[in-house]
Amino acid sequence: MNEIGLIGLAVMGQNLALNIARKGYSVSVFNRTPEKAQEFMQNKVKDEQIKPYYDIKSFVESLKRPRKIILMVKAGKPVDDVIQELLPYLDKGDLIIDGGNSYFKDTSRRIKELEEKGILYLGMGVSGGEAGALHGPSLMPGGTQDAYEMVKDVLLKIAAQTEAGPCCTYVGNDSAGHFVKMVHNGIEYAIMQAIAEVYDVLRKVLKLSPEEIGEIFEKWNNGELNSFLMEISYKIMKYKDKETGKYLVDLILDEAEQKGTGKWTSQTSLDLGIPTPSLNLAVEARSLSFFKEERVQLAKRVTKIYPEIDIDKEKIIKDLENALLFSVFASFSQGLWVISEASKVFEYNIDLSEVLRIWKGGCIIRAKILDFLRDIIKENKENVNLLNSEKALSFLMDKIDSIKYITNLAKDFYLPTLVLNSSLDYFLSMIEENLPANLIQAQRDFFGAHTYRRIDKEGIFHTEWEAE
Ligand SMILES: NC(=O)c1ccc[n+]([C@@H]2O[C@H](COP(=O)([O-])OP(=O)(O)OC[C@H]3O[C@@H](n4cnc5c(N)ncnc54)[C@H](OP(=O)(O)O)[C@@H]3O)[C@@H](O)[C@H]2O)c1
Repeated sequence: MNEIGLIGLAVMGQNLALNIARKGYSVSVFNRTPEKAQEFMQNKVKDEQIKPYYDIKSFVESLKRPRKIILMVKAGKPVDDVIQELLPYLDKGDLIIDGGNSYFKDTSRRIKELEEKGILYLGMGVSGGEAGALHGPSLMPGGTQDAYEMVKDVLLKIAAQTEAGPCCTYVGNDSAGHFVKMVHNGIEYAIMQAIAEVYDVLRKVLKLSPEEIGEIFEKWNNGELNSFLMEISYKIMKYKDKETGKYLVDLILDEAEQKGTGKWTSQTSLDLGIPTPSLNLAVEARSLSFFKEERVQLAKRVTKIYPEIDIDKEKIIKDLENALLFSVFASFSQGLWVISEASKVFEYNIDLSEVLRIWKGGCIIRAKILDFLRDIIKENKENVNLLNSEKALSFLMDKIDSIKYITNLAKDFYLPTLVLNSSLDYFLSMIEENLPANLIQAQRDFFGAHTYRRIDKEGIFHTEWEAE
C-alpha cells in the first residue's frame, strides 16, 4: 500500500511525484491519458517508489487509509470531474489536496460539498514551476487544521528549505491557501511587468543590447533587487538562439498570455474595495500587448518626435533600479493589503508574516525584499497597509525622485510604463491629504442626487445644483 496518491501527470504533477518519492514516501500515480503515465514511468522514474495505476478504482485501493490524494490537474471543471470520479471509492476521513491554481471560491465550495460527505479537503497553492515542484516548491495549504495535520510532515519535507524554515505553513481556514496563491500570482504579474518596463527604457532610451541589459540585471540581482525574477531576467537577456545566433528575447513575439490568476486578483481586490493599481495595470498591460496588429498599424500613423536630450547613462541606470524597487515594494504592499482584508472578510485567520516567510524559497516571487517586508509587519502585526510604517515611507521617499524621473523620461520617449506609473500614483494617492474626490462627489450629487458629506459640518447633504 502506498502513502500518497497523485493525479495529473503534466509537468507539475510529474515533478511533485518525484519530489515526494525522493523524500522517502511511496506514491501511486494516475493520469487521465494513460500513455502519459507510461511515458513518465519509462523516462523519468528510476529508483523512486512510484507506481502507476490505469483505473481510478485500483489507484484508490492502492493507498493506505486514511487516503491522501493530491490533484495536479488543470484548474476549473477538471478538478470537479476528478473529484466525482474519486468519490465512489473514497471513505470518510480520506483527504483530497488540490495543488492546482484553482479559483478560491471553487475551493470554498468543494470544501463544503466534501465536508458533507465526510471527506477532508485542502486547497493548496504550489509555486515554483517545474523546478520548484521537483526540488522544493513554496506550498500554501488552506482548509481545516485537521486536514493539514494529516499531511503536514510530507509537505514540510517536500517544500523548499530556507534559513527561515520550510516554505510551507498552514495558511488558514477554508480557501485561504488558494487565495494567497492567487494574490501571489497577482504580485508576480506586477513585478514581471515592472521589470519589462525597465527593460524597455534600457533598450529604447539607452539603446543597450540584451547582453548589456543582462549585465545590469545581473548586477542588480546581487543587490537589493535580488530575486528569482531578476535572476531569470538576466539569464534570458544573455541567452542566444541556437538556430540564428541572435538574442532569443529579440525574436519572441510581444504578446503576453495569461491563465487568469492575475485577473482574479484584480477582480477580487475590486470586490473587496482594496486598491491594487499596480497589480491591475499588469493585467491590462498583458491585454494591451495582445493587440499587436492594431499597434503595428497605429504606430505607422503617428509621428513621434523624440527629445534631443543629453543622456546620463549612469544616472538613468541608478534611477531605473530605484524605480523598480519602488514598484516591487508597492506591488507587495498592495497584495498584502488584499490578503489581510480577505483574511478578515472570509475569516481565514492568515498570519501575513508567515505568508512572507513561505515565499522566501521555492516560489516565483522569492526576493530579498521579503525580509524587509517581514520586518515592517513584525513592528506591528495589525499593520495591514505597509505604508503606515516609517521604514516603508522612508524607503519609498528615498526613491520617489527616481521613479518620477523615469516615468517622465519614458513618456518623453512615448514608452508606456503602466506598472511603474500606477505604483507611483498609488503612493501619491496614499500620501495626499486632499484628493479631488470632492468634485466626484459633487458630480454624483448633481446628476444622481447621490448626496455628499461636508468637511465643515456633520450630516448627509444634497444640493439642487441648477436650481440654485
Ligand atoms: N505549470 C506551472 O508552472 C504551474 C505552477 C503552479 C501551479 N500550476 C497549476 O498546477 C496545475 C497543473 O499544472 P500543469 O501545468 O502541470 O498542467 P495543466 O496543463 O494545467 O493540466 C494538465 C493535467 O490536467 C489533466 N486534466 C485536464 N483535464 C482533465 C480532466 N477533465 N480530467 C482529468 N484530468 C484532466 C491532464 O490530463 P491529460 O494528460 O489526460 O490531458 C494533465 O494531467 C494547474 O492547476 C496549474 O495552474 C502550474
